[in-house]
Amino acid sequence: MKAAVVTSFDTPPRYADFADPVPAEGELVLDVVAAGLHPRVRSQADGSHYTSPGELPFVPGVDGVGRDDEGTLRYFVLDDTAFGSMAERVAVDARRSIVLPGGTDPVAVAAAMNPAMSSWVSLRSRIDFEPGQSVLILGATGNAGRMAIRSAKLLGASRVVAAGRDAQKLAELTAFGADDTVRFDGTGEASKELAAKASEVDVVIDYVWGEQTPAAMVAIVTARPDRRKPLTWIEVGSVAGLTAELPSAAFRAARLQLVGSGQGSLTPREYLEHLPELAGHISRGAFDVDVRAVPLAEAEQAWADAATERRRIVLVP
Ligand SMILES: NC(=O)c1ccc[n+]([C@@H]2O[C@H](COP(=O)([O-])OP(=O)(O)OC[C@H]3O[C@@H](n4cnc5c(N)ncnc54)[C@H](OP(=O)(O)O)[C@@H]3O)[C@@H](O)[C@H]2O)c1
Repeated sequence: MKAAVVTSFDTPPRYADFADPVPAEGELVLDVVAAGLHPRVRSQADGSHYTSPGELPFVPGVDGVGRDDEGTLRYFVLDDTAFGSMAERVAVDARRSIVLPGGTDPVAVAAAMNPAMSSWVSLRSRIDFEPGQSVLILGATGNAGRMAIRSAKLLGASRVVAAGRDAQKLAELTAFGADDTVRFDGTGEASKELAAKASEVDVVIDYVWGEQTPAAMVAIVTARPDRRKPLTWIEVGSVAGLTAELPSAAFRAARLQLVGSGQGSLTPREYLEHLPELAGHISRGAFDVDVRAVPLAEAEQAWADAATERRRIVLVP
């Protein structure tokens, strides 16, 4: 079959022949209809993701939408495998797939599930989020950050503050559902504004990390009117840096707790449990996906475009 094939961690995948996946017991072979080129897939392909086994060659792709023998559309999540979703066919553990409602747009689902589940499943499974609580999203101008606004609202958040560094993209987020927006780039002035708008939030969903997270944490904790009010900080992404120097005092000075949410801290079962509901919301257009479908044969160019393109690229065999 044809696939996007990674033969080196220094070069993008190329469209080439690759062995057909051989299904193990309990697995289905699906014809791939659409597979999202998420940041997670880019870090898989360049070997930088924390789950990377460092082995070559392989087909990247962690999820997608495929059609089974009976013509049913399924969204699937793959286990760590050399046979990823950026291929004509994929072998999928039936328990790690969900049947999509009739009329679903497979490209929209392939684009949205990964970024949307980052907030949806973290609010559902990693913390005891309650309707009426307020949420700050750090890095709200990216795909996952935008969708976190909708996740929080759908799950009953009373107030959602969207923080990001790009003023133009930030300005669109009020229409997308944010109650307030604030420019945040980790500098002193931006930290003051962040503290003024978000010092009382219950939950932070953090896609940024790096040097910006400590600045945000100090600003919020210092300005918090009631230090006894719990503040749960969920680490989900790290677009500004893989490491951060967190001030110890922040954890003593307020009821601040830090949790992470991702592959490993959540089991496949915990992810799967919440996906039918999320797929339903995406199918109904609740997440307003900004997507560009690209033929699988153009995978190499798609990789170059994904580094700068705002829309989520979805490869279509
Ligand atoms: N744990 C999980 O379950 C999970 C699931 C999905 C995604 N993620 C992670 O979440 C993060 C975001 O994913 P995504 O799908 O939203 O990616 P995306 O659509 O590519 O968006 C990334 C955003 O990050 C911002 N950004 C990039 N570099 C930055 C920097 N140095 N400082 C501040 N902002 C910066 C950019 O904002 P502007 O250009 O607009 O400023 C861009 O819009 C990634 O780290 C991804 O791996 C985690």
